[in-house]
Amino acid sequence: MAVTTCVFDAYGTLFDVAAAAREAAAEPGRQDFAAHWPAIAERWRLKQLEYSWQRAIRGAHCDFWQVTQDGLDYALAAEGLEGDADLRARLLALYHELSAYPEVPAMLAALKVRGLNTAILSNGSPDMLRGATVSAGIGDRLDALLSVEDVGIFKPAPAVYDLVGTRFGTTPDQVLFVSSNGWDASAATDYGFHTAWVNRAGLPVDRLPGRPPRILPDLATIPELDLY
Ligand code: LAC
Repeated sequence: MAVTTCVFDAYGTLFDVAAAAREAAAEPGRQDFAAHWPAIAERWRLKQLEYSWQRAIRGAHCDFWQVTQDGLDYALAAEGLEGDADLRARLLALYHELSAYPEVPAMLAALKVRGLNTAILSNGSPDMLRGATVSAGIGDRLDALLSVEDVGIFKPAPAVYDLVGTRFGTTPDQVLFVSSNGWDASAATDYGFHTAWVNRAGLPVDRLPGRPPRILPDLATIPELDLY
């Protein structure tokens, strides 16, 4: 069946999760942080995701803003920067207003011209997703911001992917799901969505059930896929 609905992961897919640390590192007076920022950004992201999975498995859900803060606190402590309250506050403020990747606005506009539904499906809390879409100026190109908060468990729990059909009345084969997270693209493939894995970093394919059938370097060609 033809795809009617294009759904995007948020963090790492539409929004550049390294941007907060990169921008803070360039600010005056942050020499200590500038020396460590790539390691902190990477560990922050890994811990944020690890804590989301831990909480899903343990049945101890909290919202994604909490695991984002907890992951940052771990990453700062690992580099001996846990005492810098101003840096912590600045990184969180920047994370709340992450930049979108440059091709995102035109890509979403092209999907709307084709008459497709567009949405985000994310671990992010509704407040985080509103903040990022408003600051990136893409709110008017998205029909829905679907948050795991509606089901109270993080990806890749199948209940999260169910939110798309509930919102749009689609069957899985009417949906294209796009993620830069290999494990998310894999789970969505296993769920029955058409999928594309956006592999900006040239990483190996995750060894998990559900190998994404499309691997793209960025989001630019999404409107041209032979699915609609
Ligand atoms: C999200 C995370 C997984 O936006 O990137 O759901």
